[in-house]
Amino acid sequence: MYQNRTLKGGGSLQGNVTVPGDKSISHRALIIGSIAQGETLINGFLHSEDPISTANCLKSLGVNIPQIYENEPFQIRGLGLEGFIEPSEVLNCGNSGTTMRLLMGALAGKENRNFILTGDNSLSERPMGRVCKPLRLMGGQLFGRENGRKAPITVVGQKLKGCLIGTPVASAQVKSAILLAGLTASGATSVIEPASSRDHTERMLKAFGADIEIRGELGRNVVINPGKDLCGQEIQIPGDISSAAFWMIAASIVPNSNINIKNVGLNPTRTGILNVMDLMGCDYKIIDKRTVAGEPIGTVNVKTAKTLKPFLIEGDILPKLIDEIPILTVAACFCEGISHINDASELRVKETDRLKVMTRQLRKMGANIKEKEDGLIISGNSKLIGAEVDSETDHRVSMSLAIASLIAKGTSIINRSDASNVSYPSFWEDLSKLL
Ligand code: S3P
Repeated sequence: MYQNRTLKGGGSLQGNVTVPGDKSISHRALIIGSIAQGETLINGFLHSEDPISTANCLKSLGVNIPQIYENEPFQIRGLGLEGFIEPSEVLNCGNSGTTMRLLMGALAGKENRNFILTGDNSLSERPMGRVCKPLRLMGGQLFGRENGRKAPITVVGQKLKGCLIGTPVASAQVKSAILLAGLTASGATSVIEPASSRDHTERMLKAFGADIEIRGELGRNVVINPGKDLCGQEIQIPGDISSAAFWMIAASIVPNSNINIKNVGLNPTRTGILNVMDLMGCDYKIIDKRTVAGEPIGTVNVKTAKTLKPFLIEGDILPKLIDEIPILTVAACFCEGISHINDASELRVKETDRLKVMTRQLRKMGANIKEKEDGLIISGNSKLIGAEVDSETDHRVSMSLAIASLIAKGTSIINRSDASNVSYPSFWEDLSKLL
């Protein structure tokens, strides 16, 4: 089923690229549209494996979602806050942690209905206790392997009660699950995160008319008051900065490059990569900055950097660039000095253990990387050499290795390259257009 690709080093990147819709916002558009009253029109949806998993689960829950075609807007009719039906089949979340975790929250409060959520081999090993635990505090009944730590997960719908919940990890998936559960709980639900994670759920719930408040230092406390119906909206999904990141780094490190990445979502909870590009001294600018449907967007122009300084990533910035660590690891190989990534143990529970997998794969190309418990130490000035590497089924690893291959000497083979279909199905096509 998987496809291998051969890539030659050399060349430069030129021209314009429009990255596909934001994955996080695409999931939320479907889920929040499904629990709203009336029609929601979705523009710019990411037509890739993960959001399609969400769409298929919602169809099984009784939502009328049409056949979704690439680059075509579509409308869904919401069932209201209580409308999900008990599905006759197991809900298959595929490779998608967002699908499973957000649905656990959306389903926990559906009284007199039971649900079973499952996923692929990777998802079945990822931590679900971080969602089961807070939902149980709200009175939820959720069961899974290893006492609810792993899928398959069974949700026995219950009337929930609002709670004050401090989450131990800064995870937008956990926060969103609790907020979605809070919509039908009795009393207010308040979530406090250790650091701010992406806030797309809060923005979208607000736009749909939910009674939601952002409080506390740096907005780390979100409160949802139940009792208000959501009202279907028109949604414009911006391009995914986590997909744009591959081109931002590629153009910075591949000689003689100059590209424009259009329609990039620039929500401040997602732009940590720009801060790191500032540290590295990358040559980029943002043009045509505007706000579309409550989310800031713009075109990012990137030219090859003259020199690249090493960087340190640690602390509260991590959630703002959590998905960009694999491509930043590639960037670090070309910096003039040693880069450090600390406080990144969350990377070990992504689609793969990304600290281990990026170290293992980039070493095959000659990179000098030391893996630590919670991060990486990457020596720059690497002269990468083309090699046979493997995505290990992780979409972001596949695309990061493709960018590394562009500056490696000789030819590389990327095994299981089409793992990229999880978030960026047109990645290879866009790459050949830019080269
Ligand atoms: C996501 C949140 C992040 C991110 C994932 C998508 C989301 O995960 O890594 O790709 O849509 O909420 P965590 O919330 O688990 O950190």
